Amino acid sequence: MIKVFADQESLARAAAELFAAQVRQAVAARRRFLVLLAGGETPRRTYQLLAQDPHRRQIPWGDVHFFWGDERCVPFDDPRSNAAMAQRALLDHLPLRPEQIHPIRCDRSPQASADRYQADLIDFFAGAAPCFDLALLGLGDDGHTASLLPGSAALEEQVNWTAVTRRREEDFSRITLTTPIINQAAVVLFLVAGADKATVLAKILNAPTEAISYPAELIRPRSGDLRWFTDCEAASCLNTKTSKREKED
Ligand code: 6PG
Repeated sequence: MIKVFADQESLARAAAELFAAQVRQAVAARRRFLVLLAGGETPRRTYQLLAQDPHRRQIPWGDVHFFWGDERCVPFDDPRSNAAMAQRALLDHLPLRPEQIHPIRCDRSPQASADRYQADLIDFFAGAAPCFDLALLGLGDDGHTASLLPGSAALEEQVNWTAVTRRREEDFSRITLTTPIINQAAVVLFLVAGADKATVLAKILNAPTEAISYPAELIRPRSGDLRWFTDCEAASCLNTKTSKREKED
């Protein structure tokens, strides 16, 4: 399902509403809500809205566990850290117990940190399949998502839950969940905004085929609940039959 919003604010508002609805549903059914947070810039506003009333007051935050789909191997206080961004925009403003926050700690080598995150997840899920109630994802202009980068061996990984990747232009490695884990999520929500995403979004959504040209196309949740929230700029190359255009106020 694809929804096009007038601007990034209405996209963020709708994403926060969806988050809240998914929390209510999961907590009613299983008394907990497990979310994979996305990094980058796009989700920041959604996190800020969740940290404000009504969501701050209405969501049962004590039942929510926060995980990340990927992380950059930088110090925690580095502004490029995905966990640091979510901490500042959202987590610092919520009544949480430390054990509800499960960051990808990058204080060892990238591979050792990836292995430890996998071990943390296996421990948390106590041997059960890692099913997140909601996975938030962004989209890079090269079609990457999380840190599943074009051409990386991580795209083929079917056994390990985590992998290490690296972008040529960056001086740090990345740790990412692998597609089999992300695809276990009950709901996957892509948040895509800005004109720089228009070309790649259209290539992914206008004429989907079995062929995989971009890492984001590997995201096919087993539940089938894959949703795209975009703003008008990112959707500007979508053909009308692709996007269910809802002009949000
Ligand atoms: C990261 C993210 C990455 C991001 C996209 C979009 O660590 O960089 O996980 O997948 O979601 O690159 O980033 P923006 O939202 O900043 O455009």
